[in-house]
Amino acid sequence: MIDVLNEIHQEVSPLLGQGKVAEYIPALANVDPMQFGMAITLNDGQYYGVGSYQTPFSIQSISKVFSYTLALRAYQNGLYKRVWREPSGNPFNSLVQLEYEAGIPRNPFINAGAIVVCDSLVSHFSTNEKAFNEILAFIHQCSGDKSIAVDEVVSTSEMEHGYRNIALASLMKSFGNFDNDVIEVLQTYFKHCSIVMNAQQLSRSMLYLANDGTDPITKQQLINSTQAKRINSLMLTCGHYDASGDFAFRVGLPGKSGVGGGIVAVVPGKMAIAVYSPALNESGNSLVGTKALELFTTKTGLSIF
Ligand code: DON
Repeated sequence: MIDVLNEIHQEVSPLLGQGKVAEYIPALANVDPMQFGMAITLNDGQYYGVGSYQTPFSIQSISKVFSYTLALRAYQNGLYKRVWREPSGNPFNSLVQLEYEAGIPRNPFINAGAIVVCDSLVSHFSTNEKAFNEILAFIHQCSGDKSIAVDEVVSTSEMEHGYRNIALASLMKSFGNFDNDVIEVLQTYFKHCSIVMNAQQLSRSMLYLANDGTDPITKQQLINSTQAKRINSLMLTCGHYDASGDFAFRVGLPGKSGVGGGIVAVVPGKMAIAVYSPALNESGNSLVGTKALELFTTKTGLSIF
């Protein structure tokens, strides 16, 4: 496995420098675009990594997988009346579709969907602090690492520049698809986007999705197998926004990206993979990270197809 990772590292190196880091907040705009790291964790906990695989970065939208898992666990099928399960075909922060679809977001991985998921968690756990603490505790549980925390600078900065997300939440509130205070829910949303992890921790934390909802190392069932199937299906169809089809076409695995430059992918029954390279393509997904995952499934034959 390490040989494949080394080969991929070599092959993607000439691509570093292409793409652009996220620029909407200074804390993300200032990261070095030339970084690349990749980690794999197998079902038995053995891991392999190359490059900057232990460099911490902002997980951003990858956090939406964890919050959706908790909300699905809390509300089960009741969640689907508030957030659908269709690809959006639109940018992750688009307002237009939300307006003509009466405030019901297409899926939980676009911003509007993840904000509604946070709203449902604030209701379920009764306050925004408790909701955030439960999300973080869940990440501690599935990564087996209690040191994982939030970057408060990123979180504060997200809130200061969060006008579009405030607009999305307010629009949903006007349609009646929002129970709590807009700003309080956004605090939970921005905080969970600002959690910092490295590729090794991220690959470890996604093993429950590679194993029907049960962590193969601790043997704890985190969600049931039907819910795990659904989250994986949504990662495959919606995990990369308006580039989800392209990601499925190239990589052939359920995956989720974040504007911090991370991508996680799940190989059912076997392993989870995380890549980190902060320069993004025009859809907001890691450019070199996507290429690395494409090379991985091409070289190993480990796509789901
Ligand atoms: O809400 C936002 O816009 C960011 N905090 C997260 C967006 C994100 O990661 C979209 N991903 N590619």
